[in-house]
Order: sequence, then C-alpha cells, then structure tokens
Amino acid sequence: MKLTLNIWRQADQASKGAMQKYDLDGVSEDMSFLEMLDLLNENLNEQGEDPVAFDSDCREGICGTCSLMINGQAHGPEVTTTCQLHMRSFSDGDTITVEPWRADPFPVLKDLVVDRSAFDRIIQAGGYISVNTGSAPEANNLPVEKAKADRAFDVATCIGCGACVAACPNGSASLFLGAKITHLGELPQGQPERDTRVVSMVAQHDHEGFGGCTNIGECTAACPKEIPLDVISQLNKDLRTAIRHGH
Ligand code: SF4
Ligand code: FES
Repeated sequence: MKLTLNIWRQADQASKGAMQKYDLDGVSEDMSFLEMLDLLNENLNEQGEDPVAFDSDCREGICGTCSLMINGQAHGPEVTTTCQLHMRSFSDGDTITVEPWRADPFPVLKDLVVDRSAFDRIIQAGGYISVNTGSAPEANNLPVEKAKADRAFDVATCIGCGACVAACPNGSASLFLGAKITHLGELPQGQPERDTRVVSMVAQHDHEGFGGCTNIGECTAACPKEIPLDVISQLNKDLRTAIRHGH
C-alpha cells in the first residue's frame, strides 16, 4: 500500500507544533499501525531526518502506552489499542491523520508522546488497598460472590491508556476513574478504604484539570477494553455515600 500520512510534529512541550505530510510506500496490510510508523521512521533515519516520537511498550494491548488519535478517533477505527490495529483496516491511497491525545492534563512532550502521569497521581491518591504483608492468606478464607468477582475482573481490564479522556468533549477521566473505583469497590478487600478512596481520587481527578462527565458516552465507545458507562454511575453513587458518611 502507498499512504499519505499527516502527522503532528512538535519538538518539545514548549514548542508550538504543526501537522507535517509524509508519503509512505511499501506498507503491508499485515503490519500493525506501529510497525507502519516504524517503517516511516526507518526512512526518516536514512534521510537524516528526525524520526517521529511515539510511545509503545508491550505491543500486545496490555500496557496502555500506545495512544494515538487516528483520523480523529482514539486508537483508530477498530475497538482495540493502536498496537493491535492492523493496516488491513486501511486501503491503498488512503490519507491518515495521526495526532497525540488532546487534553490539558496530558501535555504533549514530543510529537505524538504525551505525559499521562496525571493518571498515576490519581491512582496514588487512593487506587489501592492497604494490607499487612506476610505469608499468603488461605484463598478460601474470603469468599467473593461470583457476580462481584466477574464485575471486578471485567473492569480491572482498564489499561489506563487515556482514550476515554481523548474522546470526551469535556476531557473527563470519569470512565478510567469509575473503572478503578468499581474494581476495588466490588471486592471485600476494598471496603475499609472505600469512602476515603473515592473522595481522594475524585479530588485528584479534578485537581489535575480533567472535566466533569455529562453522559455523552464517547469514552466507552473509544475504550479498547469496552469498559461500560455504568462504572461512572457506580463512581457517583460511591461518592454520594462517602459524603453521606461525613467525608
Ligand atoms: S477506561 Fe478504557 S479508554 Fe479509559 S483508560 Fe481505561 S482502558 Fe483506556
Ligand atoms: S503498546 Fe502496550 S497496549 Fe499498545
């Protein structure tokens, strides 16, 4: 395939940045989207030009680092991560626009790389359980209802990619936050800190500059792990309960 790429280039956080056009030949439909960008960078290296900076790590849909806005859609046209998106989703002669996540709490560091450490700070504010370490407990001491275990497992698949924020017109991280709150709130181990967790994490979310949820639903449509919108209802319910308890 022969493609035309419009790619956001930005030297560093302080620079302005602009779209730049590249022609790329020899793209196979079996390549992943990131392998296509690797090919572009090989060409740029050979020409002595600065390669396009982008994030990736596992390239297996697990780590959440490969976060690109492709033709205006977070992670592109399929419900998957950018690394699991394949070039067979595109056609010979296509023009593809590639941009970084656009949200104030995710500043662009270079080209397509954004700083998503705001998510880490939200987790540090309460996305954990406190336990005394020691020998492994007996697994059957703490039974977990099957429906709750399944629900916790399903929402624990959130990989923290930030597509929900990038897709949301409000720049809200409510889907990410709701996934974490629901995951820990369904399990018995998550109960002692349930109230303080939701209050601290919501405060950090707002402090980072993420917007509020107005039930638009773009987040869940963009989410590569199909985290459902009702985790945001759970988030709001837990927050109301914590406030009623005096937090
Ligand atoms: S909720 Fe979905 S889109 Fe948002 S960070 Fe988690 S996996 Fe990514
Ligand atoms: S590189 Fe890890 S999810 Fe894409």
